[in-house]
Amino acid sequence: MKALTLLAALWLGGVATSALGAGAASDGQTVFERRILPIFKSPNPSSCTECHLAGVDLKNYILPSHEKTFLSLRDQGLIDLANPADSKILRFIARGGGTNQGASLISAKVRAAELAAFTEWITASARDPKLRAAAKLSIAEVAKPARPVEVIRHARTDRLLASFEENIWSQRFRCSGCHSSAGKENAKLVAEHGEQVAWLKDTAEATMRYLIATENINLKQPERSRLLLKPLNEIKHGGGQKMLAGDLTYKAFRTWLDDYAKTVNDRYASAADLPSRRPAPAMFGTDIWFKLNNTPPAWGDRLLQVTLFAWDRAGNAWETKPIAISDRGVWGKGKLWQHSLVLLADKDSERARLWGRSEAGLPAGKYLLKVHVDVAGRLKSAWNTSLGEADVVGEAVVESVWPKGYGRMTVVEAGRLRPSAATKD
Ligand code: HEC
Ligand code: HEC
Repeated sequence: MKALTLLAALWLGGVATSALGAGAASDGQTVFERRILPIFKSPNPSSCTECHLAGVDLKNYILPSHEKTFLSLRDQGLIDLANPADSKILRFIARGGGTNQGASLISAKVRAAELAAFTEWITASARDPKLRAAAKLSIAEVAKPARPVEVIRHARTDRLLASFEENIWSQRFRCSGCHSSAGKENAKLVAEHGEQVAWLKDTAEATMRYLIATENINLKQPERSRLLLKPLNEIKHGGGQKMLAGDLTYKAFRTWLDDYAKTVNDRYASAADLPSRRPAPAMFGTDIWFKLNNTPPAWGDRLLQVTLFAWDRAGNAWETKPIAISDRGVWGKGKLWQHSLVLLADKDSERARLWGRSEAGLPAGKYLLKVHVDVAGRLKSAWNTSLGEADVVGEAVVESVWPKGYGRMTVVEAGRLRPSAATKD
């Protein structure tokens, strides 16, 4: 708002002087032709696109005719006849400039030009008594974005970033050892392969902007993005296979990539097309390792998921929501499965607060272990489905102090797993 008032004041000051010099202020029609039509005809995106990836652009509000553009804005409440310099459309334009990224330097210039043009045109036109009093346009004549407000909201960069935090940033511990400059392996790998190995930046926003600006995302075929194909080892990956299609990390990455591609390709026409938001728990990566020993041959190289449930002393039963989870392919040849655990907690819960403050860990004690195996390889093609009761291969009660470190795994013999009824007290 401050920026708007300042810019408007600067501009109005400028007009006052030039008007004095020229003898008369320009009328709305002339200003429209000189300053607004070029914006309408320009192939370049407007400053709105700094925050709105799709769904809305300044051009959406402009019509070829000066009068109709004014009435269309007036009828939508975007022009304030009593105080033209404070019109809502000017506020839309003046918004932004919050980030100091390279892209916003460009849009700052574009924005200043748009704001000056619209301010001059609106103040000039609002002086015209005929325009002020003209009858309302018919609804069909009003110029506005084609997409409904739900779609416009979904396509905002701050929403995209929130989804990135939830789906990709929350999984970064799977990749950070090698891909973040703070990771143990990173310096060595950067020296070997180059700077691009350090794609995990200090913040979610910097990482998202970096990935968007590089070749790691394929907007035409998001499922063919390098961000997926590398860890799947479908294209040779220096880190080997770090994901299986359909596993939890893949699902999260794919969810964000598909949505990002659909958003910028303007594929959402109505609110009903938007992805439904399911409340996801907060996730905490740990260095607690868990191993299943002597896995049967039928599980070889299949996706296996372990889920742990804590004991609820008050309710005298296992908790219904998992406290820890992990999934990965079974190493068929080695007859074992091992991976680090990810801890889960409801957002804003006591546990989430505790694990957010200090390093997350599992309290010593007994937990119910549930093991799912995708024996038929179903998730490979239907990545968006989950392992369910039909995929459970057994349960066991596991007691451990849950130490941290690859060398101090909690180990369970696969032969100890029993059908679920056996572990019910
Ligand atoms: C710096 C970021 C930013 C820029 C630049 C920006 N907007 Fe927005 N816009 C937002 C945010 C955030 C909201 C939702 C919050 C609000 O309504 O205050 C929003 C809401 C809107 C809405 C209303 C949708 C709703 O949620 O009800 C419209 C329409 C809109 N903007 C149009 C524009 C136009 C047109 C431009 C360019 C002239 C523009 N915006 C530039 C951030 C921005
Ligand atoms: C053990 C180390 C290691 C781990 C863990 C690892 N990677 Fe990598 N990754 C590498 C190395 C080394 C390269 C560079 C050589 C190459 O391109 O394969 C690389 C390259 C990449 C690239 C290409 C980057 C570019 O711009 O060229 C992507 C994308 C990538 N990895 C994604 C991932 C994801 C996602 C994860 C986590 C799920 C992950 N990696 C985990 C070692 C690792």
